[in-house]
Amino acid sequence: MDNKSPIFVTQPDLPPLEEFMPYLQQIWDSKVLTNGGPFHKQLEAELAEYLGVKYISLFTNATIALVTALQSLRISGEVITTPYSFVATAHSLLWNGIKPVFVDIDPDTLNLDPACIEAAITPQTTAIMPVHCYGRPCDVEAIQRIADNYNLRVIYDAAHAFGVKQHGQSVLQHGDLSILSFHATKVFNTFEGGAIISPDARTKQHIDHLKNFGFVNEVTVVATGINGKMSELNAALGLLQLQHVGKAITRRKEIDALYRSLLGEVKGIRLLAPAEDTEANCSYFPILVEADYPVSRDALYQQMKDAGINGRRYFYPLISDFPMYRGLPSASPSQLPVAKSTSSKVICLPIYPALGDEDVVRVADVIRNPQVLQPTASSITSTTSQAEPHHHA
Ligand SMILES: Cc1ncc(COP(=O)(O)O)c(C=O)c1O
Repeated sequence: MDNKSPIFVTQPDLPPLEEFMPYLQQIWDSKVLTNGGPFHKQLEAELAEYLGVKYISLFTNATIALVTALQSLRISGEVITTPYSFVATAHSLLWNGIKPVFVDIDPDTLNLDPACIEAAITPQTTAIMPVHCYGRPCDVEAIQRIADNYNLRVIYDAAHAFGVKQHGQSVLQHGDLSILSFHATKVFNTFEGGAIISPDARTKQHIDHLKNFGFVNEVTVVATGINGKMSELNAALGLLQLQHVGKAITRRKEIDALYRSLLGEVKGIRLLAPAEDTEANCSYFPILVEADYPVSRDALYQQMKDAGINGRRYFYPLISDFPMYRGLPSASPSQLPVAKSTSSKVICLPIYPALGDEDVVRVADVIRNPQVLQPTASSITSTTSQAEPHHHA
């Protein structure tokens, strides 16, 4: 056991507390706490500018935003999505009474494989819900071609894709709607928070009604809306975070580059190639532990833990393996071989702006020097796997 301080997979980025005080004072003075107050309006305007999009609606979190996005487009029937994501992606479909149809991912991008999407379309299919996994852009053109051909909607779960640009354009402009998360663990956080990016003012207005119970004015309710509003406290924090996020992403890029230089040549460890012509946000640093690595993924995960380093097997298990999904015909592991195998190989390494170079070296050292247990007379008869810590009675 390493006696050094633990390294976590992520640590929320917070601005200096004293910088937040004037915002709090303003809220206390005005007593405007929510319902589209001044900080909420200002954050929508500043985020639109920063992200390079026109219409953004702030939400209390991304999950409610996903549920509302599907409501706003009146999606029903079947929606094609990825099993290799956070469970909220598919949960948003079930909350709308929609049947998720899982299809496999591309082995290089870990995003939905367009060929698999096309093969899964039925007369009940109404939409595609892809995820820009780890903030790496989906094949947006191929997905749009399929959507156009079959008259389907596209709702991107862009929870990981804050600030990502490809070919000089925001990746959030694609499809019918994109959803961001500002959860504590994300590149840009408002403690809890999220947003929907709309293509036009009319769509934004409808979404703004939906997130406010369906109210259009004091006496008119036009839809079965929900309460998805972001509070002034969260919006104020967002305004402050926005001043620091550029610096945070720069540090993430340095960590990404250092990991790449330290791990690029390690036999049995696969890194994902940077996406083509992309301004990345380096939100995650996944590694894939392949069969020719000296120990299993779970053994490495445990050895990291023993050294005080908390990686995360993200995404493991697949969404399609959870009880509410595994009975679906599309959830069968045999139909999702790439997702299944990726899920059994992945570890996301610690990455966050406060992580020092010496910590990155410490993480890389464990991966470069796995402890390979030589079989001994006692271990040959033992059924204990390398992945399990040895407990003493
Ligand atoms: C891909 C993906 N979708 C949706 C969510 C849900 O976001 P939130 O926690 O803001 O509801 C998350 C993360 O938390 C996520 O990683």
